[in-house]
Order: sequence, then C-alpha cells, then structure tokens
Amino acid sequence: MSGIVVEKVWKEYGDQIVLEDISIEIEDRAFVALVGPSGCGKTTFLRMLLGQEQATRGTILLGGVPLPKEPGPDRGVVFQRYSVFPHLTVLGNVLIGKEMTAAGFSARLFGQARRAAVEEAKALIAEVGLSHALDKYPAQLSGGMQQRLALAQALIMKPKVLLLDEPFGALDPGIRAEIHTLMKRLWHENPMTVVMVTHDMREAFTLATRVIAFERLRDRPEEKLRYGATISRDIPIWPPRRAGEPSLIRPDRDGPVQKGQ
Ligand SMILES: Nc1ncnc2c1ncn2[C@@H]1O[C@H](COP(=O)(O)OP(=O)(O)OP(=O)(O)O)[C@@H](O)[C@H]1O
Ligand SMILES: [Mg+2]
Repeated sequence: MSGIVVEKVWKEYGDQIVLEDISIEIEDRAFVALVGPSGCGKTTFLRMLLGQEQATRGTILLGGVPLPKEPGPDRGVVFQRYSVFPHLTVLGNVLIGKEMTAAGFSARLFGQARRAAVEEAKALIAEVGLSHALDKYPAQLSGGMQQRLALAQALIMKPKVLLLDEPFGALDPGIRAEIHTLMKRLWHENPMTVVMVTHDMREAFTLATRVIAFERLRDRPEEKLRYGATISRDIPIWPPRRAGEPSLIRPDRDGPVQKGQ
C-alpha cells in the first residue's frame, strides 16, 4: 500500500513558518498535482515526503507506518534538472540504484545478478524510449531525454511513491506533450502513488487524479513570518481517472498501453 496520510504537519525554518497545519489523505495510486505560488512551500513539502526534511510538528504516514527519517528506495524523486549523474551513461544511470543497494560499499554487481540488473535496466530504458542512447552521457542528451532517463532511474527501484518537482517545467511544449503521454502510461503500469509539483495548471489537469493548491492565506508583510501556507483547494478531476484503467475521454493516450500497440 502506498497511500500517504499527512496529519497536522507544520514546517518552520527558524522564525519563519513555511507550512501551517497541513492535513491530507492521499489514497493509494493517486496522482496528485501540487500547485501554488512561488515560495509557498511546495518543494519543502515534497522534501518532507522524501525524508530530506523533517516536519517541525505533525506526522506523515506511508502505507500506514511513519515515514522513515531519511530518503529510501520506497520513494523515488525527479527534479526539474540535475536528477541524473553526469559522469554515468544512460545504462549506468539506471543501474546505479540497484548497484548501490545490492552491493553495499563496492557498488558493483557481478555475474548473474549483474546480467539480470542490466536486462531490467535495458527494458526500462526501452519503456522510456531511450534504447538508442544506452551509451550516451547526459550532456549528450536533450532536456526531454534527460527527464526520461531520470524517470527510468527512479522507477527501477520500484518506488511506492514517486515525487516529481516540476520535472517537465524546462521542456518545450511539443516535447512536454510527449512526455506527458509517457508519464501517464508509467503511472498506469507501475503500482505507485505520484505527487507532482507543477506551475502549469494545464499539466496538472492533464495528468492528475486530484489537484491540490497551497496558498498563504495571510500574506501581509507583518504576517509573513507568523503564518505559513496551507491547503487552499483540493479539486478532484472529473471524470475520475483511475490507475490501470483507460480513461473515458482519451483511452489511447490515457490508460495502460500493452507493449507492441
Ligand atoms: N533549507 C531551508 N532553510 C531555510 N529556509 C528555507 C529552506 N528551504 C526552503 N526555505 C524557505 O521556505 C519557503 C518555501 O520554499 P520552497 O522552495 O518550498 O517553495 P516552493 O513553493 O517550492 O517555490 P517555487 O515555486 O519557487 O519552487 C521559502 O521562503 C524558502 O526561502
Ligand atoms: Mg519549488
């Protein structure tokens, strides 16, 4: 189970209250888009889900148990930029997570285990449309290709939760539409819950099952430190989009697609 329960979470940095009393239940397999003005704490919220930051008060449960206090393989993340390692090839970038967890400090896999990991990585690289670029380095890839690679890198660890911080924000509109189709398919086909920060409402409504807005309701200069942002809107998408099921509107672009189709 990969549902997330956030209960009365506050986040403060020194005197500054960034997030105030956030409570939300995110159901298993949801795709939540998180929107809100710059600086309202979206990335901070995502980093708390990742385990990079701790809530000042309140609790976060993942699958019914308190979130571990550090990042782990159950939570994958893709940032707007720089998610992949520049000194590793496409194949190396997708293999690295498996190598780190399976082989401890030496970070190497041998024999059968390595062959199996390479096969798995190649299959995932094919899923994201990068089979022709296995030996390329990130600097040799376009922005869209790098984000496809970042998705494959996160997905090989089979995360229960995939966290995306404006992952497609820097891409051209055409490339963005393509990667949206891919992102939807990956969500349909992988048993994970997705939380994605975006500035783009259209993107939010294209991909998500639910759109959540953070907002600072009291924003006068003298109030800035004392009040944080909180959830101001919680909009379910209609008609409902369900993981693993084709949508009523565009089943060809929004649904699980069998290989070879
Ligand atoms: N490590 C930190 N130490 C102190 N303050 C921080 C830290 N991280 C974030 N903040 C502050 O918390 C607030 C929220 O920042 P955050 O990056 O979460 O906003 P955001 O909603 O992601 O903005 P954007 O849309 O511009 O990415 C900002 O005022 C920021 O300065
Ligand atoms: Mg941010």
